[in-house]
Amino acid sequence: MKGIFITLEGGDCSGKTTASLMIKEELDKLGYKVHMSREPGGVKIAEQIRDVIIDVNNKEMDSMTEAMLYAASRRQHFVEKIEPILNEGGIVICDRFVDSSLVYQGVGRQLGIDKIYELNKLAVGGKEPDLTIFFDIEPEAALKRVSNGERKLDRLDLESIEFHNMVYNGYLDICDKFPNRIVKVNARATKEEVFNEALQLIKSKL
Ligand code: TMP
Repeated sequence: MKGIFITLEGGDCSGKTTASLMIKEELDKLGYKVHMSREPGGVKIAEQIRDVIIDVNNKEMDSMTEAMLYAASRRQHFVEKIEPILNEGGIVICDRFVDSSLVYQGVGRQLGIDKIYELNKLAVGGKEPDLTIFFDIEPEAALKRVSNGERKLDRLDLESIEFHNMVYNGYLDICDKFPNRIVKVNARATKEEVFNEALQLIKSKL
C-alpha cells in the first residue's frame, strides 16, 4: 500500500473528533486531499453495525459479540474504503482503529489484548497505521464534557468510571508498547492547542 494511514485514538470525549474536523479544514486549505473516516462506521454496512453496537437498549450484549461486531464493522470499512484509497496512494485519517478494540474490548472488557489482536488480524490482515495520535486526558475530566451536554450518550458512555479508567490505562500501556507508532498529545489543553499539536504531527508525515 502506497498511501499514508493515520489514526486518532483516545477515550470517550477526549476531543479527537472535534480536532479531526479542524484538521480536515486546515489540510483542505493547505491543498492536501485527505480522506477522513471513523470507526465503527465509515461505510454504510459498518454504520449499520455501529447502530447495533452503541444502541443503549442492547444491554444484554455479550462482550465477545461486541468485539466481533467491532471487528466485522472494521473489516467492511477497511476493504471497502481504507484499502482502496491507500492502494491509490491517498491519505486516510481515521477516528479510531484496531487500538480501540485492544483497549476497550481487550482491557476494558477483560477479553485480553492478545485475543483481540488475533481477531483483528483476521479483520484487517495485521495492517498498522503509519502514525497514531493518542488524545491523552483522564476519563473523569473528559466525561464531564458529556454531562455538559456536548454530545449524545451511547452504550459505552454508560459504563462505569472504573471501565473508562481501565481503557485509559490500556491506552497508556499500548503507547509504551508501540512508541514508534503512537504519539501522545495533551488533550487537557484548549481545542486550538490540541488541534495545533495534532496538526504538526500529521504534517510531519505528509
Ligand atoms: P466514538 O464515540 O469514538 O464514535 O466510538 C463509539 C464507542 O465505541 C466509543 O465508546 C468507543 C467504542 N469502541 C470500542 O469499544 N471498540 C472499538 O473497536 C471502537 C472502534 C470503538
